[in-house]
Amino acid sequence: MRKPAPISGFSKLSKEAKIEWILQNHASEPESALNMLTGYWHGQTEVQRLHDEFIENTVSNFYLPFGVAPNFLIDGKIFTIPLAIEESSVVAAAAKAANFWLERGGFKTEIIGMTKIGHVHFVWQGKDFEFLQTAFVDYKQRLFDATEEITRNMRQRGGGILDISLIDKSDLEEDYFQLQVKFDTRDSMGANFINSCLEAIAKEWAQIVGELRAEHPVQIVMSILSNFTPECRVKAEVSCKISDINEGSGISNQEFAEKFVRAIRIAKAEPYRAVTHNKGIMNGIDAVIIATGNDFRATEACAHAYAAKDGSYSSLTHAEINGDEFKFWIDLPLSIGTVGGITSLHPMVKFAHELLGYPSASDLMRIVAVAGLAQNFSAVRSLITSGIQKGHMKMHLLNILNQLEATDEEKKQIVEYFKDKVVSFSAAVEIFSKVRGVSVSAISSAKH
Ligand code: MEV
Repeated sequence: MRKPAPISGFSKLSKEAKIEWILQNHASEPESALNMLTGYWHGQTEVQRLHDEFIENTVSNFYLPFGVAPNFLIDGKIFTIPLAIEESSVVAAAAKAANFWLERGGFKTEIIGMTKIGHVHFVWQGKDFEFLQTAFVDYKQRLFDATEEITRNMRQRGGGILDISLIDKSDLEEDYFQLQVKFDTRDSMGANFINSCLEAIAKEWAQIVGELRAEHPVQIVMSILSNFTPECRVKAEVSCKISDINEGSGISNQEFAEKFVRAIRIAKAEPYRAVTHNKGIMNGIDAVIIATGNDFRATEACAHAYAAKDGSYSSLTHAEINGDEFKFWIDLPLSIGTVGGITSLHPMVKFAHELLGYPSASDLMRIVAVAGLAQNFSAVRSLITSGIQKGHMKMHLLNILNQLEATDEEKKQIVEYFKDKVVSFSAAVEIFSKVRGVSVSAISSAKH
C-alpha cells in the first residue's frame, strides 16, 4: 500500500480505474478488497447502471436489510410496512406494536397540513422598508409570472405556489430580508421544484428593485427551500381502555398506563432522555423513509427542529390518561414524496411503494408517523417493564454469533440455550466455547 496522495480528475476515471486507484492507495489487502467491492456489484445490469448514476464515483453498492412489519391497521386499512435498517430489534419491535394495536382498534391519523416552504435570503441596504413593502405589493404578480413555465406542470396537477411574502429580518442580521414562498407540491417532496421557483423569483426580485432604485440594488444571498416544514404535518394516535392494555409483563394495567405516561412526561421535560426517546422514534421513521426512497437527512433535521420548537428539546410523542382511557400520539412535520427523486427508479423503492399500495404523499406521511409511534410504543413498553436489553440482546445474539463465526448448527444450539436466559456478549462467548469445545481465551480475538 502506497502512502495516499491527492489525485486530480478522479471523477473522470472509469469505475475500474477508480477501484484500481483505491486498491493501490488505500487497501492493505488489495485482492480481498477487490473481491469485496465487486462482490457487491449487481452484475452488468440495468440496476447497477442506475446505482452507478445515482451518485458520483460509485465503486460498489452498500446494502441494508429490507424487512417488513405486517398487520398495521391504519385508519381501518391493513398495511405491511417496509423497513430498511441495520439495527437488529427495530423490525421486531414494529411488528410487535402492530399486532398489539391491531387488537385494540389500530392507528388513527390526521393530516394537519401539506404546505412546503422556501426563502430568498437577500440583503438590501436602502434602509427604507416601506419602499420595499410597496415595491413588493406593486410587483408581486411579476414574481408569480417569473415562475410561469416552471410551475405549469405542477399547477396542472393542482399544486404550485400558494403565497409569497416579504419579511424584515434585519433584527437578526443587518439589512437582511426574505421573500418567503409557500408551496403545494402534491405527491412530490418538491425540492428541485421549490429551488427552481425560488431562483427564478430571486432573479426577478433583484431586477424589480434594480429598476426602481438603481443606487440600492438587492444582493441575493441564497435561494433555498427550508427542510423545516411545520405546516406539512401529520398526527398519528392510538388509544384503548386501560383495562384492555393487558400487555402481559406482570404489572397491572393501571400501573403500566401510569408508568408509560410518566416516561413520556420525562422525555418531554428532560432533553437527555428526549434525544434518546426521539432517536427510537426515528428508528421506525428513517427505516420507512429509506425503504420508500425519501430523504432521511431532511426528515431527521425537520423532526429535531420541531422537537425543539418551544425552546427546549422535547419528546415528539405525547401520552395521557383520561378517566379510564389511555391515549398515545405523535405529531410531527414530514416533507416526503411518492413521485420524483428515486421513487420510480430504485427497484426496491418501487417495490416498497407497491407493498404499501402506491400511497399518495399524504398517505405515506400517515404510514411513516405510525411507524415512529409504533417504534416508540415498543421501546417505552420494554423500558418500563422488562428493560430494553432483554429484547435487544436476543435480537443481537445472531450478530454476536456471526462475529464468532459460529456454524449454523452451533447457532441453533446457542439460540436454544438462550431461550430462557439473558444474552450478554460474555455469556455468548462462554457458551460458544463450550459448544465448540475450545477455551474462552482461544476465541478472544473476537471483538465486541
Ligand atoms: C435504541 O435504538 C432506541 C431506544 O434507546 C429508544 C428509547 O430509549 O426510547 C431503545
